[in-house]
Amino acid sequence: MNPVYNPFSPGAGTPPPELAGRDELMAHLMVALGRARLGRPAKSAMLVGLRGVGKTVLLDRIREDAEKTGIHTIRIEAPEGRSLPALLAPQVRLALIRLSQVEAAKEYAVRGLKALAGFVKKMRIVFGDIEVGLDYEPEPGLADNGDLEHDLQALIEQVGLAAKAAGTAVAILIDELQYVAELQLAALITAMHRVEQRALPVVLVGAGLPQLRGQMGNAKSYAERLFDFPEIGPLSAEAAERAIVKPLGIEDIAITKEAVDEILRVSRHYAYFLQQWGSHTWNAAQASPVGLADVKKASATAIATLDEGFFRVRFDRLTPREKKYLRAMAAMGPGPHRSGDIAAYFSSSVSSWAPTRGSLIKKGMVWSPSHGDTAFTVPMFDEFMIRIMPFEDW
Ligand SMILES: Nc1ncnc2c1ncn2[C@@H]1O[C@H](COP(=O)(O)OP(=O)(O)OP(=O)(O)O)[C@@H](O)[C@H]1O
Ligand SMILES: [Mg+2]
Repeated sequence: MNPVYNPFSPGAGTPPPELAGRDELMAHLMVALGRARLGRPAKSAMLVGLRGVGKTVLLDRIREDAEKTGIHTIRIEAPEGRSLPALLAPQVRLALIRLSQVEAAKEYAVRGLKALAGFVKKMRIVFGDIEVGLDYEPEPGLADNGDLEHDLQALIEQVGLAAKAAGTAVAILIDELQYVAELQLAALITAMHRVEQRALPVVLVGAGLPQLRGQMGNAKSYAERLFDFPEIGPLSAEAAERAIVKPLGIEDIAITKEAVDEILRVSRHYAYFLQQWGSHTWNAAQASPVGLADVKKASATAIATLDEGFFRVRFDRLTPREKKYLRAMAAMGPGPHRSGDIAAYFSSSVSSWAPTRGSLIKKGMVWSPSHGDTAFTVPMFDEFMIRIMPFEDW
């Protein structure tokens, strides 16, 4: 069918034609924001899940919905290797400037901008990558202690006071939170703890790989109680079906039951794979209704596209030793696997592979569902590893 009208949207953070199966979670998060705005206790949430399950599009949808109700949002993505203060500072400034335009909040927002000036002045000594325009001189003693944990807390508190005076709330949305270093994560948790204690209207919605939960617990043991950790997983059968059938329906295209079932089977209900198969099936089909043969035809190109894109970009970032480790895991099945079993695969000790496992966790390729276990963060990466390294010479 004409690719110009293809409704599916495989990509990173690309909004899907139908955001299926997330209504309940969205409603829950919006209630939290609404409660925070009223000064009622509201739990911040960390959306955790594997690659491609739809965390980023959820954050973006929350942002859209929050802004529609007049809640201010700060939206950042933590890339590998950049400091959290450097990412936060320009966005906090923007939020404070917006709040300063509300007469009732002006005084607090200006004080917030002074806090930001003090924060940046001191923090740029620690984090060389902070660059942000400053509107006011620092106020001595306000967020300029030089200690991130203390200063971030003071800064976020000012944001909360300004938001409260403006009768609104601020939602801080941070994607890829697992890349934030432990001390910075600890400072963020402390800051959220403070605003919670003072019932200030600031809510954090983070997203990250499943290791985020453990990382936050290591950074601050009370993080587990302070935040909810909703798991973003594959869609239910009903939602996965809707993710395919509804966008087709809007284009007046029907699909047979067998064809839908086959898409659900091969995608295993993972959001990104559903979009990929939906898209390739559309291109393979000639006319409505789309049938099983179309899906079968699409599978070959869908897998090749995944291999050359989604999987490949991750594979190319691996060292030869990391590839070996993942290939051994793949040989053992989808996992999770015991670290001891993986080492035994090479007839060597767990400790000799510990640095490799550690760097794979850091790169976000694997995680540890429980102590001593190792699992892929990318769904179906095991099958890809076997396709890309098929021979026995690795
Ligand atoms: N609920 C959903 N229903 C249908 N499609 C979805 C849904 N959520 C996400 N998608 C689609 O899945 C793909 C991946 O979404 P997204 O980039 O948000 O995932 P992610 O979890 O952030 O992945 P990563 O960990 O790689 O950043 C996109 O193409 C998006 O359109
Ligand atoms: Mg994402």
